[in-house]
Amino acid sequence: MSNGFTVAIDGPAAAGKGTVSKAVAAHFGFAHLDTGLLYRAVGAKVLLGMDAAVAAQTLVPDDLDDDSLRTPEVAQAASKVAIIAQVRAALLDFQRSFAARAGGAVLDGRDIGTVICPQAQVKLFVTASAEERAKRRFAELSGRGIASSFEAVLADVRARDARDMERVEAPLRPAADATVIDTSDLTVDQAVGAAIAAVDAVRGSG
Ligand code: DC
Repeated sequence: MSNGFTVAIDGPAAAGKGTVSKAVAAHFGFAHLDTGLLYRAVGAKVLLGMDAAVAAQTLVPDDLDDDSLRTPEVAQAASKVAIIAQVRAALLDFQRSFAARAGGAVLDGRDIGTVICPQAQVKLFVTASAEERAKRRFAELSGRGIASSFEAVLADVRARDARDMERVEAPLRPAADATVIDTSDLTVDQAVGAAIAAVDAVRGSG
């Protein structure tokens, strides 16, 4: 399915997979796709009244380039539309084509190693405790001037975890052959270093 070198990075919200994915892509010169943006773009359209399946089927790349996709409201809407099989199906080909591009690709999301790219050469599952993830997300939102409380952010993280892990379609879980990186007690540099080492281990032996 995938001709290029693919790194699949999955994990729950705010575990650091975005940071790790960008750093891995930059280090190896691979293209990067944050697949959460696809679901966020669909969620944002649903908040404006569009049907979720239609929104997914008519999505264009420009829809991903929008700062308003980063709000907690859109994140929750994304997690809700992500349950819908037709939405996931409509987004499949785009993700698989991206993964197969020449020159290598890093995709991060929830089901990359399990459903989108089960043949990926490297699979990572980047995770951290719910409290640590809420702490990071709270700091990030405060830094961007978005008002909220730690308790509200923790409740949001837990609600999204439950919905992402318990859904029937492509639930969030590590692939059997994924390397798990728990970033709870790691610095950003340590987490990135662990991910780069995992890729090097495969490329070196290839
Ligand atoms: O990674 P993120 O926080 O931007 O993702 C937003 C939501 O999109 C997440 O709660 C679940 C959904 N999602 C998904 O179901 N599958 C993916 N590959 C990526 C995101």
